Amino acid sequence: MCGIACVAGDSNSAKYCYEALSQLEYRGYDSAGIAGIIEREIEIFKKEGRVKNIQSFADEFKAELVISHTRWATHGKPSDINSHPHLSNDKKIAIVHNGIIENYKDIKKHCQSQGVVFASDTDSECISQLISIEQGNILEKVKAATSMLKGSYALGILSLEDNAIVACAKESPLYIAKTTNGNMVASDVICFNGIASEYYAVKQNEYVLITKDEIIVYTKDFEKKKVQYLSLDSLNINVDLAGNKYYMLKEIKEIPKVINKIASTTEQINSKVLKLFEGKKTIKIIGCGTAYHASMYGAKVLQDALRVPCDACVASEFIYANNIIDSKTLCIFVSQSGETADTLSAQKLCKQSGAKTLAITNVEYSALAKVCDEYLSVYAGREIAVASTKAYIAQILIFYLLAKKLKGESFDLKPLEKSAKQMIKIDEELVNYVTKENKIFYLGRQLDYVSALEAALKLKEITYKGAEGYAAGELKHGTIALIEDNTLVIVFATDEAIIDKTLSGLQEVKARGAKIVLVSYKKYKTKDADYFIEVPKLDKELSCILSILPLQLLAFKVCIKLNLNPDKPRNLAKSVTVE
Ligand code: G6P
Repeated sequence: MCGIACVAGDSNSAKYCYEALSQLEYRGYDSAGIAGIIEREIEIFKKEGRVKNIQSFADEFKAELVISHTRWATHGKPSDINSHPHLSNDKKIAIVHNGIIENYKDIKKHCQSQGVVFASDTDSECISQLISIEQGNILEKVKAATSMLKGSYALGILSLEDNAIVACAKESPLYIAKTTNGNMVASDVICFNGIASEYYAVKQNEYVLITKDEIIVYTKDFEKKKVQYLSLDSLNINVDLAGNKYYMLKEIKEIPKVINKIASTTEQINSKVLKLFEGKKTIKIIGCGTAYHASMYGAKVLQDALRVPCDACVASEFIYANNIIDSKTLCIFVSQSGETADTLSAQKLCKQSGAKTLAITNVEYSALAKVCDEYLSVYAGREIAVASTKAYIAQILIFYLLAKKLKGESFDLKPLEKSAKQMIKIDEELVNYVTKENKIFYLGRQLDYVSALEAALKLKEITYKGAEGYAAGELKHGTIALIEDNTLVIVFATDEAIIDKTLSGLQEVKARGAKIVLVSYKKYKTKDADYFIEVPKLDKELSCILSILPLQLLAFKVCIKLNLNPDKPRNLAKSVTVE
């Protein structure tokens, strides 16, 4: 987890790092810190909490070589002492790290045996300590130290003696660019927005030396490497709030535009992509969080289209499930960021087992897009709010189109786009009701069950309320015990083939005193529901897409009523790059 940003530039480098960290906060915001060289000493300032806590320091800190970090805690609780940068005992090396060092206890022992005293509880500190006790020039030291590390890392290393920054990475994203603010290293190209025209993604076994004057990429044998920088123009990394106070609202409002974009780019589902499905005996669709819910939708529509078994799998479970995967399996990976470590590990496993792999992601330069045989963009545009909204809609729409193309059926997304505009609204009375409740159930069957899970996750993520998505028919097998007078139950009912059964579920909870929100077509409006959310009638696979929009907005509005920040919910990060 975490985000790193390093600048070798003028005396405002710390300020530039602060600006970059503000863009990287989606990667974690448990603490932030900055280190630079001032009068031949490494000076560090780090603080628990949001990046803004280091702003005034960054403004005043006049160093030219600066490394910085925003943290999502893994080893060691969020605290000043566990914040990055970590300094070596001899005060000559400071590091910032994104990733996890799995063998940090062994490394710690090794360093302690040489007299090193550790200050923090983190896995990351072992890196600064280890580099400082290695021999040779800074590149040799970094190579020797990293060759002992097990796990993942993107590192920014500040060396006092060399007056330079060294960067390297393994299984964690890291990019370099020559910017108008100086030579830069960062966890995301988003940091280069408006200040550079090109970037380079650092590869494993490369060592990058960054000074004020140059960026040099070395091979593992320390030979200078000529690398090809890529243009930033095509990457749609603009993160303007467009007059909104929060990204989440902006991103919900963008959904009709995203639908339009997907409708105009369907040619990406070309013969090469469709060929991946030929002769496959099983399809596994793998993701985490919201992307897992999109995978569930995908498994249902693809199984209907192809009549081959399709399973949706949680990536972190999939890796250990002893799955039967071979060349007759197609594995599809869904990930907004394309950097989720669990999803990437699952991809590696499938590839090794001989399966073909397809990525569905929002970030075309992501690791996932690079490692899969084929790649489909969800064209949602940059999503900043931690809770995914527009990217989820875009992911499931890609599955809808895949299913249509595989069946050779025509499609028209215009009505969906038009209806989506009408669906971004919610009854304020319902918002007030949910704001006061602490236990909310979301029910549905089949695709509506997927919506129930996703709507509940949205509410949990940003309001911290107890929200459960449940299969409408399963509630009665235990969980119905939790229903009491005025418990709020939100029922999704957009599949007319099974709607009677879903509505029986509504009656079961109504009979036990529940307050009901029914999300369905006009003709099913009933006095039994205390609130009714009307869904326009399209294909059931499209109507269920529409049904989620007001519930995304509901979560947002409740969050605002509770005075919480929807873009940065507690304990979460947008991109989880550790397993
Ligand atoms: C994190 C985020 C979730 C997200 C999940 C998968 O847990 O907090 O909102 O759904 O990662 O992210 P991905 O980028 O792979 O879609």
